Amino acid sequence: MRKLTNILITGGAGFIGSNLVRYIFEKTGFSGRIINLDTLTYAGNPYSLDDIDKKFGEKRYFFEKADIRDRAAVDSVLQRYEIDTLIHLAAESHVDRSITGPEEFITTNINGTFTLLEAVRAYWKDFDGKLFHHVSTDEVYGSLGSEGFFTEDTPYDPRSPYSAAKSASDHLVRAYHHTYGMPVTLSNCSNNYGPYQFPEKLIPVMVENMLDGKALPVYGDGKNIRDWLYVEDHNSAVWEIVNKGQLGRSYNIGGENEWENIKLVNRLCEITAEETGKEPEVFKELITYVKDRPGHDRRYAIDCSRLKSELGWKQAFSFDEGLRHTVRWYLDNRSWIEQVKSGEYLKWMEQNYTKR
Ligand code: NAD
Ligand code: DAU
Repeated sequence: MRKLTNILITGGAGFIGSNLVRYIFEKTGFSGRIINLDTLTYAGNPYSLDDIDKKFGEKRYFFEKADIRDRAAVDSVLQRYEIDTLIHLAAESHVDRSITGPEEFITTNINGTFTLLEAVRAYWKDFDGKLFHHVSTDEVYGSLGSEGFFTEDTPYDPRSPYSAAKSASDHLVRAYHHTYGMPVTLSNCSNNYGPYQFPEKLIPVMVENMLDGKALPVYGDGKNIRDWLYVEDHNSAVWEIVNKGQLGRSYNIGGENEWENIKLVNRLCEITAEETGKEPEVFKELITYVKDRPGHDRRYAIDCSRLKSELGWKQAFSFDEGLRHTVRWYLDNRSWIEQVKSGEYLKWMEQNYTKR
């Protein structure tokens, strides 16, 4: 196990990052400090960590509103908190947005990662006891046909501006390991779902539209396949890698849980019906096939045997359990979702975070 003291998490106000901060404080026995650096784009919401801030704020949990592209701001955070471990999640993350507006994806995902690497290279000098963990995606491997799985040796073949920018960032992280000896680990994960996911990704879009009685938009023929993993299982894998992963190594993370989109949407209709006491048909009737996403990758499927055999990771949540928990969370946390949907949280952020 590595000795971790001051962990900088970038993108900790986003979906996976906020779940990661909570997971580390509540489930791991970690006794050090977490510094959450996030610039708060539309996808970042510190309200997601309000409970953690109340419990650990200014002692073991710190929020820094800063952009990973801002070298001076990153330098200042590294120095002030004496960071020894960096877990890098900050990114533009939505494929559809990367198609309509790719620029932020290039500057944040590529230049931002480069800025972080340069900042830690200068600050750490001596790499002993340090770690840069880069959180990435299975989309770097491209698209599969009906058979086969992505392994860590699958050649990169990104096909959207999002996955191309994430691929570039992966290459930079590996290059800093090979060239400068920087201690790095990487992970490439499949589709996450769970609490606090911004309602632009498939599962929260569907749940929210069901509750609002709106059409459930299924792209193309609905037969694209994704491998789904509950967010806490992703984060337990990241934690294993950060603690025990081999330096310079990449680990695939996946749910071994492939679903055609249309089958998943139908299952989600059934679970939401059970949880709301309605008939599933009320929701299924809302399913509407819409124009396909340009360049839509057909199938992702992950071989995560390295992670399981080398680090002993296994997932804790079955898909049905995770989906039900997620639907319940969206039903029980209307104030979070209303804030996100109404832009109210922007006001909340101004009051709570801009002055720090
Ligand atoms: P998200 O969009 O919910 O959150 C991203 C966070 O990064 C937000 O809080 C945002 O404010 C912050 N951010 C964006 N640009 C920034 C910048 N320039 N400086 C500082 N902060 C910035 O994303 P997510 O779904 O939580 O994904 C987190 C990471 O995990 C990403 O790197 C993504 O590529 C990767 N990933 C996501 C999935 C998934 O299914 N969501 C799967 C595999 C990998
Ligand atoms: O595989 C990991 C990736 O998973 C992450 O790197 C990305 O950050 C994350 O956004 C996710 O990318 P996808 O494009 O797979 O996720 P999304 O939820 O946008 O779409 C999942 C599938 O559902 C995809 O085939 C497109 C389809 N879809 C999506 C939406 C939002 C629909 O049919 N209708 C929709 O409204």
